[in-house]
Amino acid sequence: MAIWNLGSVNADLVYRLPHLPAPGETLAALSHQRGLGGKGANMSVAAVRAGGDVHHIGAVGEDGVWMRDRLEDYGVGVAHIRVVDAASGHAIIALDGSGENQIIIHPGANILVEMPVLEEVLSRASAGDIAVFQNETNVQRDFARAARDRGLRVCYAAAPFSVQAVRDVLDQIDILVMNAVEAAQLEAEMGLAVADIPVADVVITLGADGCRWLHQGRERHFDAPRVTPVDTTGAGDTFTGYLLAALDNKQDMARAISRAQMAGAVMVTRLGTADVIPTQDDIDQFFASF
Ligand code: RIB
Ligand code: NA
Repeated sequence: MAIWNLGSVNADLVYRLPHLPAPGETLAALSHQRGLGGKGANMSVAAVRAGGDVHHIGAVGEDGVWMRDRLEDYGVGVAHIRVVDAASGHAIIALDGSGENQIIIHPGANILVEMPVLEEVLSRASAGDIAVFQNETNVQRDFARAARDRGLRVCYAAAPFSVQAVRDVLDQIDILVMNAVEAAQLEAEMGLAVADIPVADVVITLGADGCRWLHQGRERHFDAPRVTPVDTTGAGDTFTGYLLAALDNKQDMARAISRAQMAGAVMVTRLGTADVIPTQDDIDQFFASF
């Protein structure tokens, strides 16, 4: 089976700071690094490292060809990442010493995906494959609907959160992944309690408190492994990528969530995004010495 990911590709400009900047404050960074990121790219890399066969669909500018090449080096299918006439997406990521972050994204090429291209790409997918998207590209609803029509299992990772974006796709998805803040926003802005979300599988990540899985009126809680956070950036994306690869390999949801939590836990101990997403071996080694 395969995973079809309509997702962003960003250059991540990461700045480690003594604390997150206050309004009006000028701060010197302690260190800076540039890497591959974007919620979409992070999920693709995570799913590949989890053993998935991943096709990434998206767009970069000429200045982002290195990112497409890097995804290819990592084993992601990049035939459907187009090079368009625009600047690539990028993210400015501010980190404090405790793993908290602030992220500014500039979508750039990420929102220049064209629907005819998507239709053509999805014609190569098989019923039972997984489709995933996040909220950093355009044509999300069209993608979800086209994937559903072809019998794919459709997952929406609702980040960056927008109530309108969730509302747009709610009737077209099978799996919804959100964090606790996003779930609270959904309830506050749409009056939709988690238990009433009309999606087959709802997974709410709770950071150090683990996660909740809601399915057919039942709910199950999973504790998270306790780790000391260095940089939480990309941990949610890593969780979702691992989760989907496990589901695509026909594991049940409970096992898939457990493995995804381990991957996410290792990820928060690492500085950076797509480039440092743990492999299966990294996860086994980490927990062997845990
Ligand atoms: O979830 C982390 C990601 O959010 C970063 O890689 C950044 O590019 C933004 O998309
Ligand atoms: Na990280």
